Amino acid sequence: MPVIAFYKKGASLEVQNIWEKRLKLYLPSVNLVPLLSEEAKSATAALLWKAPLDHLSHLNNIKGLISLGQGVDHILNKNSIPENISVVRIVDPYMAKSMSHWVLLSVLNILRETYGYFNQEHQKIYKPRDEKDFLSVIIGVYGIGAIGSVVAQDLSHMGFNVQGWSRTKKNIKTINCFHGDEGFNQLITSSDIHVCLLPLTSSTINIFNKDIFTKMKKGSCFINAGRGEHVVEDDLLNMCKSKHISNAILDVYRIEPLPKNHPFWEQDNIRLWPHVAAETNPDTAAKQIAKAIECIDNNIIPPNTVNRIIGY
Ligand code: NDP
Ligand code: OXD
Repeated sequence: MPVIAFYKKGASLEVQNIWEKRLKLYLPSVNLVPLLSEEAKSATAALLWKAPLDHLSHLNNIKGLISLGQGVDHILNKNSIPENISVVRIVDPYMAKSMSHWVLLSVLNILRETYGYFNQEHQKIYKPRDEKDFLSVIIGVYGIGAIGSVVAQDLSHMGFNVQGWSRTKKNIKTINCFHGDEGFNQLITSSDIHVCLLPLTSSTINIFNKDIFTKMKKGSCFINAGRGEHVVEDDLLNMCKSKHISNAILDVYRIEPLPKNHPFWEQDNIRLWPHVAAETNPDTAAKQIAKAIECIDNNIIPPNTVNRIIGY
């Protein structure tokens, strides 16, 4: 009977029960216990989202840590995880589609002037606004992995001109693919809408900063659903104040929940979402997590085990 330690920041016991019920469909003997409980001492694996990882030392039998999301920065940025413990992430097409919907929504809200029309509606103003010809818009997607590749292709299928950036060379039908430093410069200088879907690593932290925003075309839009730490927030704020960046739509922040006194709240061309662009769905993710638990218990490397050297 695999005992699995469970921790999801901010979640109730009810959430743990939902996960246990879904996992039992594939692994009937699984037993989820709270990470910070005595019973967790015998756990072989832990299912985690933003856990206090300094508490892992009591998990004497632990062999694998499974992220309750696609990102693993919340586990790997605690550099105390021994190399012999597997770190596994979810890769769920449901989440990729969900993100695709959110990015499309964000792009359309910008291009179809949704916020301007909402303001007009409040003032009973019935008047067409200038809308951009979508054929003239280039969308740059930073990170074209499990999520970004789906987002980029869906945008392309909607008729947008899309280019993508990755670490290694990619070939994706209908997308102009770039990689490396030169590729980054290409996307930064030629895109009108910039969409960050990168993982947070030592190579991508603070990647969107004053120098980079300055190189973007005047009036560019910036959308971030990667991680808050990809962005130097003061630099983005200043760029939005000067309108060099005309609109920013953000789902992630350096500190979450976004503090009440954060200046982003007051900046009307920055739109804020509470880290919901693509939420983990127990119904669609349970099967692969059950598989990961089985692999860990049998000392087999689970699918979607993270490469600790590159950090994602
Ligand atoms: P993947 O690992 O599948 O893809 C990551 C992509 O980023 C790959 O294309 C990779 O390149 C590229 N990349 C990584 N490092 C670099 C670098 N230094 N230079 C250039 N490209 C780089 O991740 P996912 O698509 O599954 O997820 C991406 C991120 O999205 C997650 O880590 C998480 O932070 C965020 N996320 C946010 C959610 C939300 O609700 N806001 C929900 C889910 C995820 P290559 O292909 O060459 O490896
Ligand atoms: C994730 C997230 O990484 O929700 O899955 O941010």
